[in-house]
Amino acid sequence: MIKAAITAVGGYVPDYILTNDELSTMVETNDEWITSRTGIKERRILKGEGKGLSDMCVPAIEELLKKRGITAKDLDMVIVGTITGDYGFPSSSNVICDKIGAVNAWGYDLSAACSGFIYALATGAQFIETGRYKKVLIVGADKMSSIIDYTDRATCIIFGDGAGAVLLEPTEEDLGVQDFILKADGAGRNYLCMPAGGSMMPATHESVDARKHYVSQEGQAVFKFAVKGMADVSAELMEKNKLTADDINWLVPHQANKRIVDATASRINLTDEKKIMMNIEKYGNTTAGTIPLLLWDYEKQLKKGDNLIISAFGGGFTWGSVWVKWAYDGNKYGK
Ligand code: UT7
Repeated sequence: MIKAAITAVGGYVPDYILTNDELSTMVETNDEWITSRTGIKERRILKGEGKGLSDMCVPAIEELLKKRGITAKDLDMVIVGTITGDYGFPSSSNVICDKIGAVNAWGYDLSAACSGFIYALATGAQFIETGRYKKVLIVGADKMSSIIDYTDRATCIIFGDGAGAVLLEPTEEDLGVQDFILKADGAGRNYLCMPAGGSMMPATHESVDARKHYVSQEGQAVFKFAVKGMADVSAELMEKNKLTADDINWLVPHQANKRIVDATASRINLTDEKKIMMNIEKYGNTTAGTIPLLLWDYEKQLKKGDNLIISAFGGGFTWGSVWVKWAYDGNKYGK
């Protein structure tokens, strides 16, 4: 049976670092509050007129292609998990394929907020497992600074910008995407959303003045759903596949809040902190970008055959967990 193996990783974060101290000059907050409530110390911001999502995705993908020793012409498909594409339409996949020269690829954007990358990973794996395609690129990226209200202290401290990508290729070995459980509950849509800019409330002077084109979040409610959702689905996937914490080499959790990650680890009895990938302190919550950016940061430490439980929870609500067996020794590429 053909499985979809991750064969390379690429990432990109913008140079500009927005620290907790700088945020405390913009809104009523402080480093101690942000650090203790979220684990975040700083986040990256894409600055510059006319710069959009694709300006982060292109360097991430170019790094990946170089490492893997292939060109963009070799790609069959590009799926982009994001909620902050360059345009409402066309898709960022179209823009990215044009910019990198992926003339033989097609693709689309997939909207699942913080679960965008795992939804895209599970989707892309199907095109490999059926034998139809040989090289499917999965991108997770968001330019959250484009939809954040920097006068709202409840949201502006959390989010940042960043992009990551993985390449899926077929393998006959028992490696790659093994199983997943993905969930959705649209009844949660109002707890975390961007109210205007869609067809229900198109942009008007009034909608802009009312600050409706920014992320709106009921933090406490989302927190409760996220803790339960991410923890339960991770446990469910492991039980389904008869995996215990001892079998898991890495928990790869969406970086929304360190307290949500701790609760997930505790629910699956993962007590060894060294097995939990974390980089929230330096990038914050990059929405669909967090998981590929974790893989990018930890790639060197990964070994062929490692069991990864990748879990996320996000707006929608959307959530889920993917079990991946890592397909190569990460230090083969360096960084
Ligand atoms: O990734 C997609 C899914 N999103 C999430 O998973 C986010 C889930 N939610 C959270 O991570 C947390 O709810 C937050 C980090 C957003 C907020 O943390 P919290 O512990 O739930 O704080 P809270 O909203 O209950 O607020 C506690 C207090 C309030 O003051 P009072 O009413 O107790 O006087 C807030 O006004 O903290 C105040 N507060 C702040 N204080 C300083 C809220 N934001 C700030 C701030 N700095 N930035």
